[in-house]
Amino acid sequence: MEAGRASTVRLETIVSLAKRRGFVYPGSEIYGGLANTWDFGPLGAELKRNLKNAWWEFFIQRREDMLGLDGGILLHPRVWEASGHVEEFNDPLVDCRRCKSRFRADTLIEEKLERSSEGLSIEDMTRIIQESNLACPVCGARDWTPVRKFNLMFRTFIGPVEEQSTLVYLRPETAQAIFINFKQVVQTSRVKIPFGIGQVGKAFRNEITPGNFIFRLLEFEQMEIEYFIRPETWEEYFDHWLNEMARFLRWIGFKPDRLRTREHGPQELSHYSKKTIDFEYLFPFGWKELCGLAYRTDYDLRRHQEYSGEDLTYFDQERNERFIPHVIEPTMGVERLLLALLCDAYDEEPAVDVNGNPYTRVVLRFNPRIAPYKAAVLPLMRKPELVEVAREVARELRQHGRIEYDETQSIGRRYRRQDEIGTPYCITIDYQTLDDRTVTIRDRDTMQQVRVPIDRLNVELAERLQSA
Ligand code: GAP
Repeated sequence: MEAGRASTVRLETIVSLAKRRGFVYPGSEIYGGLANTWDFGPLGAELKRNLKNAWWEFFIQRREDMLGLDGGILLHPRVWEASGHVEEFNDPLVDCRRCKSRFRADTLIEEKLERSSEGLSIEDMTRIIQESNLACPVCGARDWTPVRKFNLMFRTFIGPVEEQSTLVYLRPETAQAIFINFKQVVQTSRVKIPFGIGQVGKAFRNEITPGNFIFRLLEFEQMEIEYFIRPETWEEYFDHWLNEMARFLRWIGFKPDRLRTREHGPQELSHYSKKTIDFEYLFPFGWKELCGLAYRTDYDLRRHQEYSGEDLTYFDQERNERFIPHVIEPTMGVERLLLALLCDAYDEEPAVDVNGNPYTRVVLRFNPRIAPYKAAVLPLMRKPELVEVAREVARELRQHGRIEYDETQSIGRRYRRQDEIGTPYCITIDYQTLDDRTVTIRDRDTMQQVRVPIDRLNVELAERLQSA
């Protein structure tokens, strides 16, 4: 599949590999499952962690103009009034009166009536669905409720009384914690514009139509940056961040052939954005949003200033000027990137095993930077003298990241397992090791093996991982 990479992998193949190998499990499975929830197994947890660490290293640690933040999931409910989410963060929803199935009206119009839903009001959608005599995709009835707005924020209550005064929301984006802490960060960090604040954390959305495995979730993680600038410089920084996002996607291993950018049309823009460009990925279910870049203007800081009564202006000492900064926002979803990385890394090729038998080799060609295991250490057989050296080698190499030690099954099957979970290197301890203290390193992608003295292994692995 690699050569030319014409077709993408089937989604079922990824779902099944993810479950079988411990990347992603269906949520609450022993209780019969909880629809549209997922848990990340040992390999998924490593992959997620590596992805978030890579993001933090690339966007925060390596830049002088960036700071980190870890804001709360529960924020004052007025935050979401100021941000516009109480009023604007809605999906249009319609119910079938007969079977009670619930749909997003815009999706129905686009997929079943094959017309654009861009710019349609709630009233327009109601009329179009009634007039088109659309049949319910589940039961075939033609009896629809009017379309109504459904707010995507999850609600909960602080304290024992469930009433309006104790109502709080689970944050639907991490961004707002950055805006409401903007003033404190400026005061405590002595930063000067332009600078940015980045945050990684959970967000929650009560999506009406979640699905496509972990593409659209109710609970997910975002990695977001708010970059504060002078208003007249917005185009320069928009371009800068578009390039940085593209560079990051390549850095974590994406190949360019299944990536493209797409600018939002005027009707499609979020309520806070003047310009948005999405990076889209060619998922098994088509080109879909992977992550995005928005010019949020001074919308959020201005609204928080208005709603909180706090002065959120910034004083530019060199120009002796006070203003509300404008914002460029690069945003990424962890699980969505993870799904795209799984699809992008997946490859199948004809191969021949150690006994000369042909088989289809499944390999995840992860960049070593994000691969769950950096290497696997394998004694050729489960003999005490080989096991002892192998365990010692594995212990020593763990300074470079997660190293798997595996002594079960035949060596061929162990190589296959490591290929399938994307481990870049397999280090094998064999009988020659006992004579001359050398081991073999097998490269996942080329399947080439070279012999290296144990004393050089640390340097060798570090060099290989760093050059990735
Ligand atoms: N602060 C801006 C913001 O939240 P968004 O386009 O709604 O913008 C940003 O979300 C990113 O978060 C998306 O590009 C996507 O990667 C991820 N994302 C959004 N909704 C999601 C969902 N329901 N499930 C998984 N990931 C989601």
